[in-house]
Amino acid sequence: MSHFLDIHKTDPDALRSMIEQAKAIKTARAGRPKGAKDDDLPLDGRMVALIFEKPSTRTRVSFDVGVRQMGGEVLVLSGSEMQLGHGETIADTARVLSRYVDLIMIRTFEEDALLELADHATVPVINGLTNRTHPCQIMADILTYEEHRGSIAGKKVTWCGDGNNVFASFAHAAGQFGFDLTYSGPPTLDPETEFMDLARSKGSKVEIVRDPIAAVTDADLVVTDTWVSMHDSQTTKERRHNQLRPYQVNEELMRHAKPDALFMHCLPAHREEEATSAVMDGPHSVIFDEAENRLHAQKAIMRWCLGV
Ligand code: CP
Ligand code: NVA
Repeated sequence: MSHFLDIHKTDPDALRSMIEQAKAIKTARAGRPKGAKDDDLPLDGRMVALIFEKPSTRTRVSFDVGVRQMGGEVLVLSGSEMQLGHGETIADTARVLSRYVDLIMIRTFEEDALLELADHATVPVINGLTNRTHPCQIMADILTYEEHRGSIAGKKVTWCGDGNNVFASFAHAAGQFGFDLTYSGPPTLDPETEFMDLARSKGSKVEIVRDPIAAVTDADLVVTDTWVSMHDSQTTKERRHNQLRPYQVNEELMRHAKPDALFMHCLPAHREEEATSAVMDGPHSVIFDEAENRLHAQKAIMRWCLGV
């Protein structure tokens, strides 16, 4: 049994095998109805709990569909409707759920909640986003980059905007998959240096470049995310918008990236804020492949966790 808590905590060979399996899973299902089950039914007889303490569209639906396609059963649970939201400890929740289900995915606020759940569960736990990281998203992003452009090793990825949880998992992935990463945003929203230092210690070039044009120059992949994440206070919204406006990904900015650069956004997006519709719907954009690939990547992650 293996937890999937973060990309830097997972062996690079295991990460690579998950990406390759996700590619194979996607190819094998091409053209089949979404509700059709996979031929090998690797989750036959398995029960999976999906716990959400924050909203979700992609994570919720892709995990649910993925479990069903693999022949398993799924329970989607809202944290606020569980005793967890009314004083029961995470540790006790972990112990109890482990008696009913074979795998737990949780989307929560503090990273400590995820770690406590994993410490006390006797079944695998998957990180479906915390305030700090979003590893499943970046596994889908690696899959998406590679299906369009081949190996991501040695490529230049530029992140424009808030140095948030999604950026953090890109930094973890930079170290594990061997790509370079440039962050461009205001100093007040810089990522934690720990994330960047870890990638540097594994040989990746990781830079902060304040000028967004200089940052995207020669980029193979340009990425952004919402300016205000689910865990951010809404009272800071206007200030954040003012600080982040220079880092909007628009057609003019994309002109400075490589001609065949890809554009990604984990979604949900606030169109005309962090990125314009001209970019999101334009020739560089692979945002909906990225959303689809959550399904294929997570099926490979769940199989790895369960060893099936
Ligand atoms: N990208 C992502 O995790 O989307 P949801 O919040 O809709 O799950
Ligand atoms: N940074 C965003 C990602 C949403 C998928 C958030 O945490 O709200």
